[in-house]
Amino acid sequence: MENPRRQINITKDLPVQNAYTLALNGEYSHVAFDEVRAPLNKGKWRSDIFKATSEMPMDLEVGTGAGHHFAHYAAKHPERLLVGLELKYKPLVQSIRRAVVAGCKNAVINRFHAFNIDELFEDGEINDVFIHFPDPWTSPKKPKNRFVCKQNLDLLFRLQRPGAKIEFKTDSLVYFLWAMEEIRQSKYEIVFETQDLHNSEIKSENFETGFEKIFLRQGIKINFVRLLKKN
Ligand SMILES: C[S@@+](CC[C@H](N)C(=O)[O-])C[C@H]1O[C@@H](n2cnc3c(N)ncnc32)[C@H](O)[C@@H]1O
Repeated sequence: MENPRRQINITKDLPVQNAYTLALNGEYSHVAFDEVRAPLNKGKWRSDIFKATSEMPMDLEVGTGAGHHFAHYAAKHPERLLVGLELKYKPLVQSIRRAVVAGCKNAVINRFHAFNIDELFEDGEINDVFIHFPDPWTSPKKPKNRFVCKQNLDLLFRLQRPGAKIEFKTDSLVYFLWAMEEIRQSKYEIVFETQDLHNSEIKSENFETGFEKIFLRQGIKINFVRLLKKN
């Protein structure tokens, strides 16, 4: 099935700019790219943006939110590169600011619709992918908006390097069960799966994201799956 392009507004055409749109295309324009500038880096993230070798691992976080995991991960892994995607201006700027303030030189962010991800990366350009608490779209007619679906998994499979992983967590059991069906139809191998991450053997290695902390306070169990693109 053809992948319909998702349309988003053009930042520079907004009738009124705000502090976040100005920061995106001003103060942070060397590490933050709007929907027009971002695709110009396709195939050139390592060489032109990070000035890194082609072997350096480059990971992707989809929907960074306020960027707690984004900045934590970049700071913890200076030996890797991290590219973020976020649609909304405020969390986008919060994410990149958090990483810059933490002293990270290995993180950039894009204002981009995650469904159009093949406009940002060449085949085999990315390593691991983090998808933490994407919008669950649980009303009956909305599964087509769920990011973790067979069509996007097929895209990611092409874009990832062999041996790379996907980490997906969600508070929504409805979304998780639906997504697991999609995953089983994809080419990924399921290497770990739980419907209660915080009572699982990988709890100690888990980093709690901003949304995760909120769900945990409400006593909601976290669903988690790790996928592998085999060599
Ligand atoms: C529920 S929040 C989770 C944020 C963060 N990952 C966390 O765990 O705290 C989902 C985020 O994904 C972003 N988002 C939603 N749809 C998106 C899309 N199609 N492309 C990129 N980001 C998207 C939203 O703006 C929001 O910040």
